[in-house]
Amino acid sequence: MSLTLSEVISLLERRGQIQYGMEAINQLEHALQCADLAENAGETPEIVVASLLHDLGHLLVETRDEQQMQKTKQDDLHQYIALPFIRSLFPAAVLEPIRMHVDAKRYLCLIDPSYWASLSAASKHSLEQQGGVYNVAEASAFIAQPYAAESVRLRRYDDLAKVPAKAVPPLSYYNSHLNKVVLKSA
Ligand SMILES: [Fe+2]
Repeated sequence: MSLTLSEVISLLERRGQIQYGMEAINQLEHALQCADLAENAGETPEIVVASLLHDLGHLLVETRDEQQMQKTKQDDLHQYIALPFIRSLFPAAVLEPIRMHVDAKRYLCLIDPSYWASLSAASKHSLEQQGGVYNVAEASAFIAQPYAAESVRLRRYDDLAKVPAKAVPPLSYYNSHLNKVVLKSA
């Protein structure tokens, strides 16, 4: 089930043309913008890589029918799908922000009143599928977890990484980041 680093890169190259949710950009553009925002914010290579790979689960789902998912109000649980495939490749500092980036949206909607209003229509729609806004107890439990703060920052980059035709560095730019954070035993 594990992927090699070159298989992860080729997955982004081969399947990155899939539309990003209901937005006007594709998955690879979204991933590259997210990683670029993280790097420009001064994040560690681990968070830059987590930002690049946070939606890898979408690319691993073979036949995903977006319209059908919206209609039946299903949540695709993409934040969990990629983890078994990359667990042996990366440390927790990469894996945990990926795992928690959907819950981070539920957290931010509670603690930041302007955050919900700033979400796109598609993102508001998926919030309901993902369990809705956290209550106070749920939010406290969430933010107490290791890497929760990192996942909240990743979430903010994620939400901004939806600009059609934005110029950002290519995938090959991140080879050095990936090689820096990959587990040496992988
Ligand atoms: Fe995303």
